[in-house]
Amino acid sequence: MKTIFFNSNQVVTCRGSHSKKGSEMSDVGLVDNGSVVIEDGKIVWVGQTDDLESIFDMKNYNIIDCKGKIITPAYVDSHTHLVFGGNREDEYAMRLKGASYMEIMEMGGGINNTVRATRQESEDFLYEKALKRLDSFLRFGVTTVESKSGYGLDFDTEIKQLKVNKRIDENHIVDVVSTYMGAHSVPDEYKGKEDQYIDYMIDKVLPYVVSEELATFCDIFCEKNVFSIEQSRRLMLRAKEMGLGLKIHADEIYRLGGAELAAELEMKSADHLLKASDQGIKDMAKSGVVATLLPITAFSLKEEYARGRFIIDNGGAVAIATDYNPGSCHSHSIPLMIALSTIYMGLTIEEVLNALTINGAAALGLEKITGSIEKGKNGDILIHDCPNYKHISYNISVNTVEKVIKKGEIVYNRV
Ligand code: NIG
Ligand code: FE
Repeated sequence: MKTIFFNSNQVVTCRGSHSKKGSEMSDVGLVDNGSVVIEDGKIVWVGQTDDLESIFDMKNYNIIDCKGKIITPAYVDSHTHLVFGGNREDEYAMRLKGASYMEIMEMGGGINNTVRATRQESEDFLYEKALKRLDSFLRFGVTTVESKSGYGLDFDTEIKQLKVNKRIDENHIVDVVSTYMGAHSVPDEYKGKEDQYIDYMIDKVLPYVVSEELATFCDIFCEKNVFSIEQSRRLMLRAKEMGLGLKIHADEIYRLGGAELAAELEMKSADHLLKASDQGIKDMAKSGVVATLLPITAFSLKEEYARGRFIIDNGGAVAIATDYNPGSCHSHSIPLMIALSTIYMGLTIEEVLNALTINGAAALGLEKITGSIEKGKNGDILIHDCPNYKHISYNISVNTVEKVIKKGEIVYNRV
């Protein structure tokens, strides 16, 4: 299959093939009047349309006319919890009346509510639900998604969730990166025995997850009344020794020092960071930890937003992701996320585009494979029905994506 995405107003390449830090995030690698050539799933050329005809024999290619439109890399959503049973609409209604996320958790709701529901569902049921959810991600232009376990906590249900991750990756057009997050919450059976739960994950679960290749990353909810810094350090160090990449839910509700820990252990990303300290943010920038910000969660919890502007001004690499989950953020609306990132976190549209593409890919270790429009990378691109890239945020909370292309194939077409 050989296709030319022909004659767009702009190609936003986000080129670099590495995470973009600080002022680098302002550069989207713009090509005016550009075209993109994809052969056998890979990008073979990107450049100005005027130069195209002297290099390629157009009659040998499928031509997709992009006149008046723009092309960007497809989006990478590097933080989701998309495999779960049940729903928590009642908790959302309680929050609207003033209850806090932590109060609901302390009353036995929250993550453990979804744990009970997920334990009851079969693998096939969870698989079918997750496939449908991915269909919806795809319509927003997302072609690579991270998916965490953490709604099982016990051995069988965690493995069930991770197997679902593997099956959806194999059977859905969206690529799925699997993360083991047994340390999402303290299961009822280990309340008050958190250290023993960490031991159990280290001794029983991690070796199985690694030997069966069920996950690429390990993640932990490092938070007051959940897992401490010391517990997080212990689990993460062991996961690293076993070859997993590291992620952390850090400094979301209380400032525990998760950002500092992420820097110390050179984690791939630290996520949330609403309460991260100045020093933690600076340490992360120095260690090359991607700051993954999740503004729809802050919006949904009515919390202060993470300090995106401050992180970038201090040389950090920012990715933005949905955090789609049944509790704190039951939304995977990329357009809403873009609106919140620009209006409340102070990011420019250029920074948002890098955060959603190349830096999302970098947060998953995929920056050489996807997340930018460069020769040799997967042909994962979007065609937007707008005349220039600034319209992606100017159309407030509106989906501008018209066509989604995964590995060179049009997999979604709105027109
Ligand atoms: O990233 N903060 C912890 N974990 C999830 C919430 C999951 C849930 O509420 O079910 C998050 O926001
Ligand atoms: Fe999360």
